[in-house]
Amino acid sequence: MNKFSQDWLQLREPTDVASRNKSVLAACASAFEGRESLAICDLGSGTGASVQAFAELLPAKQSWTLVDHDAENLASALVVLAEWSDTAALCAAGIELRRGNKYIQVQTLQLDLSAHPKCWPDSTELVTASALLDLTSGRWMKDLAMALRSRGLPLLATLTFDGLIQCEPHHDHDRAVRESFNLHQNRDKGFGPAAGASAAHAIEQEMTKLGYDLTAGDSAWFLDRQSSSQLLDETLNGIANAVFETGLLEPSEITQWRRSHTGEIKSLTVGHRDFFARLGKDQG
Ligand SMILES: C[S@@+](CC[C@H](N)C(=O)[O-])C[C@H]1O[C@@H](n2cnc3c(N)ncnc32)[C@H](O)[C@@H]1O
Repeated sequence: MNKFSQDWLQLREPTDVASRNKSVLAACASAFEGRESLAICDLGSGTGASVQAFAELLPAKQSWTLVDHDAENLASALVVLAEWSDTAALCAAGIELRRGNKYIQVQTLQLDLSAHPKCWPDSTELVTASALLDLTSGRWMKDLAMALRSRGLPLLATLTFDGLIQCEPHHDHDRAVRESFNLHQNRDKGFGPAAGASAAHAIEQEMTKLGYDLTAGDSAWFLDRQSSSQLLDETLNGIANAVFETGLLEPSEITQWRRSHTGEIKSLTVGHRDFFARLGKDQG
């Protein structure tokens, strides 16, 4: 199973919040302006980051279904969201939260998305996914797009890795490291060969072909020693380990790259893309 630790998900959460594209979020918010309630299904929900990130943008009454194959992440999501809320209570479906003027019901669904791209409850009006699509395959995203289209559902997809890794200052091995890392990103993460760096482009094309209007933009992580030192180090470690697994660079070259960036790096930019896709008025 493709495992994402709760520590890792919590560590990246503040940077994810800072990085998501504001125009894309505004487009999603405006699509539901004036509504009193909304049912949302979040795919690959991890520890519930999408609820924290999007609740403020959406109508006052929200009903979320969090889908993940990892039972520990789902259990942790309920704890994290209860702590994030002003008040929380158990209910038959899961938990009911209040945060500010938002009333949010959250239920969880443990399920392997690779076999069930169309997993949302019938009542769903918006599907969201954060940091998920690059793990999936072109075939799976095509199935997802068709399933959304068959119900006329909008999709808010954020933080899809787009292949950019930029270190400042530059090191001689940066390019080879980036290319090897991006090849590693194409390894099967349970959905078939992963789309990796081409995921955002592939799903955006698919949704456009099906008649969706898209608002899209960059949501790169900008990591530096001042604001995100631990995430910066963990990300460099993750890149180095992945490159090591490819066997495409000598271990000594990877060690040299990693060591040099430990002392000297000022910033690391990791590219992502966000989009909000909805059907045009005449397409519904
Ligand atoms: C990079 S994490 C992102 C989590 C969360 N959306 C966030 O933004 O913090 C990817 C999530 O997808 C889940 N996932 C990966 N493969 C899956 C699958 N086949 N079925 C369901 N969930 C899956 C993982 O368990 C993990 O929680």
